[in-house]
Amino acid sequence: MSFVKDSANRTPIVDTVFAVVELAKQAKEKYGDDKVIDGVIGSLYTEEGKLATLDTVFSTLKNLDDAKLAKYAVSFTGNPDYQNDVIDWVLDGNSNLYKEVIATPGGTGAVGMSIENCLEPGQTLIIPEIAWGSYALMAQMNGLNLAKYSLFEGDHFNMASFKATCKQVMEGQNRLVLIINDPCHNPTGYSLTIEEWKEIIAFLNECSKTYDVVLINDIAYIDFSARGAQAKKYFTCFDEISDNVAVIVAFSISKSMTSYGLRCGAAILLAKTLEGVEELKVVFEKSARATWSNINNGAMEMFATIMENKKDDYIAEKQEYVDLLKQRADLFLEEAKEAGLEVYPYKEGFFVTLAMDNDTRDKYHEALMNELIFTVKVNNGIRVAICSMPLAKVKGLAGRMKAILDTVK
Ligand SMILES: Cc1ncc(COP(=O)(O)O)c(C=O)c1O
Repeated sequence: MSFVKDSANRTPIVDTVFAVVELAKQAKEKYGDDKVIDGVIGSLYTEEGKLATLDTVFSTLKNLDDAKLAKYAVSFTGNPDYQNDVIDWVLDGNSNLYKEVIATPGGTGAVGMSIENCLEPGQTLIIPEIAWGSYALMAQMNGLNLAKYSLFEGDHFNMASFKATCKQVMEGQNRLVLIINDPCHNPTGYSLTIEEWKEIIAFLNECSKTYDVVLINDIAYIDFSARGAQAKKYFTCFDEISDNVAVIVAFSISKSMTSYGLRCGAAILLAKTLEGVEELKVVFEKSARATWSNINNGAMEMFATIMENKKDDYIAEKQEYVDLLKQRADLFLEEAKEAGLEVYPYKEGFFVTLAMDNDTRDKYHEALMNELIFTVKVNNGIRVAICSMPLAKVKGLAGRMKAILDTVK
C-alpha cells in the first residue's frame, strides 16, 4: 500500500529543535525555571522570559478595519503599496537594478519558490555547510542534490571553498543556483564584509560568462544587525552583476516585525535587464497562485501602514531589542574568550555557535543536558540561542559550557 508518489521521500522530518524544546520544558517543570538554561528557542524573548512583540506592529495590526483583515490581497504577487514599501525598507536606496517583488509566506516561501523554479530535478543547489535546516529539506522536496561550501577559514569567510564548490557544480550542470544567508547568518552570526561581497559578485560574474547564475540572498535576520541601515549598504555591490546573474533577496517579516505567525515576506527579484526580472516574475507569480494563491492581506497592510506612517516609532522600538541582543552576545563572547571556548566568528544576530566536530558535538549535547543546559545540534557545532536568553542566564554560561566540554573531549 502507498498513497504518495513513488519519488516521494518517506523518511519523517527529524526536528532537532522541537525535541529539545520538549526536554527543556520537562526539565523546567521538574527542577524549576531558575535551574534550567534554555538556549533552544530561536525567537526573540524579553528579559522577563516572554516572546518579544513590538507594540508598533501589533497595535497597527489590531487597528486595521475588519474588511482589510478579511480581504484577499490585490494580486497574486502582493499589494502594490506593500511591494513598494518592501523595496524601500529592504534595499534602502542601495540598488539601481531592475526590481520586482513577489509577496510570499515568510522567508520560507521566498527561498522555497526560488529553489523550486530555478533548478530542474537532479540538478544541484549550493548551500553553506552550516545552515538553516530547511534548505536541505526544500532541495529534497524538489529532487535536487546539494553541494556545500565550508563557511570559514579562521575568522573570515572561506572564499576558496565557496569558489571551488561553485566550480565543481558547474562541471555537471548549465546553471548555478546558490544560497548565501547574510547578514546575521543562522546559526553562526557571521556577516560578510563589503569586500567579501565584492569578491563574491566578481566571481559570480566570471561564472556567468558561461553559465546562468541565480544568487538567493536569505536576509531573514537583517533587521537585527547591530549596524542598522549600514547593514544594507552591501546591496550596492549587486549593481555590478552582469546580465546573466539574477539576485533573489528573501525577506521575512517574521523577525523584522516579530510576527512569525503572520506568515508574510517577499522575494525581491533583481537583475540588470528588464527581461531578466520579468521572466522570474511571470514564473513566480504562477507558482504563487498554484501554491498559496495570495498572501495575508492584514500582514501586508500592517507593514505598509508602519512604513508609511510609523517608521520612526518602529525603528526606535526595535532598536531596544537590537541593543539587548548585542548586550547578550557581547557578554557571552567575552566570557567565551576568557574561558577559551571556541565559537564561530560571530558578528551579529540571534545565535552563537560553538565550533566542534560532530562526534564531540553529540557527546557534548548530552552532557550539557545532564547539566540542564539545552542547546541545538548543528553541523559541526552547538547552537546557543542568545535571542531567547535573559542576561542573567547568559552570565557565567560560557565558563560552565567550557568546563562541561572539557569533560567530553
Ligand atoms: C535562515 C533563515 N531563513 C529563513 C527563515 C524563514 O522564516 P519565515 O519563513 O518565518 O520568514 C528562517 C527562520 O527561522 C531562517 O532561520
